[in-house]
Amino acid sequence: MVGEGGNGYRSRDWFEGTDLDAFLHRSWLKTEGFTDEAYEGRPVIGICNSWSEVVNCNAHLRDLAEAVKRGVLQAGGFPLEFPVMSLGESLMKPTTMLYRNLMAMDVEENVRSYPLDGVVLLTGCDKTTPASIMGAASANVPAIVVTGGPMLNGKWRDLNLGSCTDCWHFHEELRAGRIDHTEWKQIEASISRSAGHCMTMGTASTMACVTEGLGMTLPGAAAIPAVDSRRKAASEMAGRKIVELVNKNIRPADIITREALENATRVLHAISGSTNGILHLLAIAGRVGVELPMTLFDELSETTPWLVNLKPSGEYLMEDFYYAGGLPAVMAQISDLLHTDALTVSAHTVAENLEGAEIVNPDVIAPRANPLSAGGSLVVLYGNLCPDGAVLKRSASDPKLLQHEGTAVVFEDVYDMNERLEDPDLDVTGDSVLVLRNGGPVGAPGMPEWGHLPIPAKLLKEGVEDMVRISDARMSGTSYGAVVLHVAPESAVGGPLALVKTGDRIRLDVAKRRLDMLVEDAEIEARRSAWTPPEKLDKRGYRRLYEDNVLQANEGCDFGFLKGRSPVIERSRTYG
Ligand code: FES
Repeated sequence: MVGEGGNGYRSRDWFEGTDLDAFLHRSWLKTEGFTDEAYEGRPVIGICNSWSEVVNCNAHLRDLAEAVKRGVLQAGGFPLEFPVMSLGESLMKPTTMLYRNLMAMDVEENVRSYPLDGVVLLTGCDKTTPASIMGAASANVPAIVVTGGPMLNGKWRDLNLGSCTDCWHFHEELRAGRIDHTEWKQIEASISRSAGHCMTMGTASTMACVTEGLGMTLPGAAAIPAVDSRRKAASEMAGRKIVELVNKNIRPADIITREALENATRVLHAISGSTNGILHLLAIAGRVGVELPMTLFDELSETTPWLVNLKPSGEYLMEDFYYAGGLPAVMAQISDLLHTDALTVSAHTVAENLEGAEIVNPDVIAPRANPLSAGGSLVVLYGNLCPDGAVLKRSASDPKLLQHEGTAVVFEDVYDMNERLEDPDLDVTGDSVLVLRNGGPVGAPGMPEWGHLPIPAKLLKEGVEDMVRISDARMSGTSYGAVVLHVAPESAVGGPLALVKTGDRIRLDVAKRRLDMLVEDAEIEARRSAWTPPEKLDKRGYRRLYEDNVLQANEGCDFGFLKGRSPVIERSRTYG
């Protein structure tokens, strides 16, 4: 049978035979100058490329595609590169998260509908990696991810600059009057000085590491800088490896298992990765039929030491991380916490992949015996403000705010916030709790990275560097602060965040994993009865599809109808 396993390559169904369909399939490939010998008896390997010049982080992926092709040809495969939608954090508005599921559908349907026996997924910027894995998991054709790699360290004066942790930092310095516009312009020119994705442990780096933890990219590949020749070498290896996976019929369903998802979650905590990693892992799990409760992230966080000293939680950057030993060194330190018999795209187990992995620089990768913290870098909160959960990155918060009670200053949406935040008459102190609503999956829509509410300028000038901030939005993985995110259910669907009023007292108690508004239940119910949902602004098109189908943050914001997988197409014949 062609498609779900069986003997022979799936692509044979398109190309073998003497009938009209086979004639058409072969003849039209000849427009590209391919002879029959190019693919006869060979697996067809798709190179699913999210290259784009409007996605700066992925603009070098055509080069990597060439390296992948070399590897595929060396191993006896037939490579065919094709484009898919790409998502760039910097230029795409309002947020790439609005389009992650659309890209996942693009990847899935391309893989399913073309004569591909295996696929190499070229990714880079934040959402391109999870979207590609989600699509490949649902198509379930053998697949390997090749991420584009991080940029080199930014350099300004004698400082290493990280994107975009230092964008936020120096923007606050500018607003506080501690640097001027000339210096601000110099920083702009110094921070992005090579191809690649953001090089802090932001979402792109996090997802590259999580993908390696999941077993979907070759061991050691996540941290190689984009412009290091070893990234091309790793791409060439991936080209050879995908042919091996096809010949061994190793598919995403064999790799993305419950155990692998737990390994990836451990990695997320050990690297103190982006909070966005939780959303993407939930969505990937949904594609393979694994239920990951939010509480599991907290449980695994508590028992996983934080080892990787990278911005925004720590000091260093991805280039340093690679030279320090990269992810294999980290995974080797926590191997007793991992399912080391899990299979990976190397066609070997995690244990086999980690043989010989060691820390080169303990300042960058802390040894297990001396971790940066014993556990709990990301925590999941519950309470009357977030009955279905919320997330906080403890490692990037001011510790004194982890137990905090303050008065709410509520912003109806991001526009209200932008209008009022810099008002010198805004009634706010360093002890206030800033609350933003209508930033969730439905309300924004797309759950933008609005959750890192800026500290009001008047407080910055007083020396306030962190405050408790709460929203149903996300935060860039490169951001930091006592920022409670992903509040579920979100305000736009009637979650309690919709009911908070300025002046209410709010209590954050991270030790007890609680987030509550200190308002009587009867008063909350009265407010709930008076609440009416905001009108959906998008009447048509993809955005309407999104608003009608997106799941809440505690389910990964996938579309409900995309959970699980469908069989790949089993008949290529139109006329036969
Ligand atoms: Fe692409 Fe940061 S903008 S990873």
